[in-house]
Amino acid sequence: MSMVNITIDGKPVQVPAGTTVLEAAKQAGIDIPTLCYLKDINEIGACRMCLVEIKGAKALQAACVYPVAEGNEILTASPAVKEARKVNLELLLSNHKRECLTCVRSKNCELQSLADELNITDLRFEGERCDLPMDLTSASLVRDPQKCIACRRCVAVCRNVQKIGVIDAVNRGFNTSIGPAFGMGIGEVACVNCGQCLVACPVGAITEKSAINQVWDAIADPEKVVLVQTAPAVRAAIGEEFGMPIGSVATKQMVGAMLGLGFDKVFDTDTAADLTILEEGTELLHRIQNGGTLPLITSCSPGWIKYCEHYYPEFLDNLSSCKSPHEMFGAVLKSYYAEKNNIDPAKIVTVSIMPCTAKKYEAARPELSDKGYQDVDYVLTTRELA
Ligand code: SF4
Ligand code: SF4
Ligand code: FES
Repeated sequence: MSMVNITIDGKPVQVPAGTTVLEAAKQAGIDIPTLCYLKDINEIGACRMCLVEIKGAKALQAACVYPVAEGNEILTASPAVKEARKVNLELLLSNHKRECLTCVRSKNCELQSLADELNITDLRFEGERCDLPMDLTSASLVRDPQKCIACRRCVAVCRNVQKIGVIDAVNRGFNTSIGPAFGMGIGEVACVNCGQCLVACPVGAITEKSAINQVWDAIADPEKVVLVQTAPAVRAAIGEEFGMPIGSVATKQMVGAMLGLGFDKVFDTDTAADLTILEEGTELLHRIQNGGTLPLITSCSPGWIKYCEHYYPEFLDNLSSCKSPHEMFGAVLKSYYAEKNNIDPAKIVTVSIMPCTAKKYEAARPELSDKGYQDVDYVLTTRELA
């Protein structure tokens, strides 16, 4: 591998040829701000937040896509660089629905952090604004085009990582927006509700469809018995929301907090996972003994089921007919548990705390109900619970 010698902010650095300025700076311990860049996923040089000065080059260059060359002298924080980044960010902010006080991503927003980092205290540009309406068509996600900064991280993740590709850039120039084709809503196309676009979005332009208010209303209703269950992953992820090290197990704190919030009983979805294994195992034996469709594929992931429905319908018969664990648990709570505890199922509200937005869509599927009751009434993500 051939190496090149460069300087970054006067610091000599040796990196393999072809390394981008951004990666070289990272190796040298120098931070360059980015917004559209997602390593190995979205490296398109769109936002121009990572501009740097390269001696001899005609213009400032985007560090995330510019490969270093022997002898490059790179400045990452010159006055010209700082001013260009600031103007670019101000232009982005000028067409951004700035409602930080009420935005779910406030304090966890890369645009907000950059505005702070670049010391933007005043907005010089007020011009035409995007007026596209919010997209509320999905049971899992909400899209707000007026907060979108067109970084295309969601597009890259959906297409290149999830291999779905239902969102892309639409129109040109100022009218560019990000969304499904033909102005359709995300709930009207073959989106699998995986939520990875939401995770990739640096701002509040894609968020989970919140059920927080509905759950609070149920808790406040003295007629309702509100039963909550948590998926295994939640106890290991929720700690991060409170600054605990990644992977910290916070089961006791989580259960205590949920009882404190007013849930009547807290259950562990693990219990229903055992039921699912029993049911799926029984189904497998039945198929083997009776010449049923094999191999049997688990049906625990609603994202995977929807993916199969849209993209591989020829494998639908391979899917297990079993409900996923939290749906099974919801059904058990409204039947067996209700009967054992002499509770009218109509008064039971079942809430699932899940790591995945696809569970929201799943809970709303009409076939996952019995006697007029949805098995699971509301799904909250780990972030919503936090
Ligand atoms: S939820 Fe998943 S499939 Fe749907 S748009 Fe987002 S990344 Fe694509
Ligand atoms: S929705 Fe979010 S991730 Fe997608 S382009 Fe807009 S700002 Fe970027
Ligand atoms: S991060 Fe380099 S152009 Fe957006």
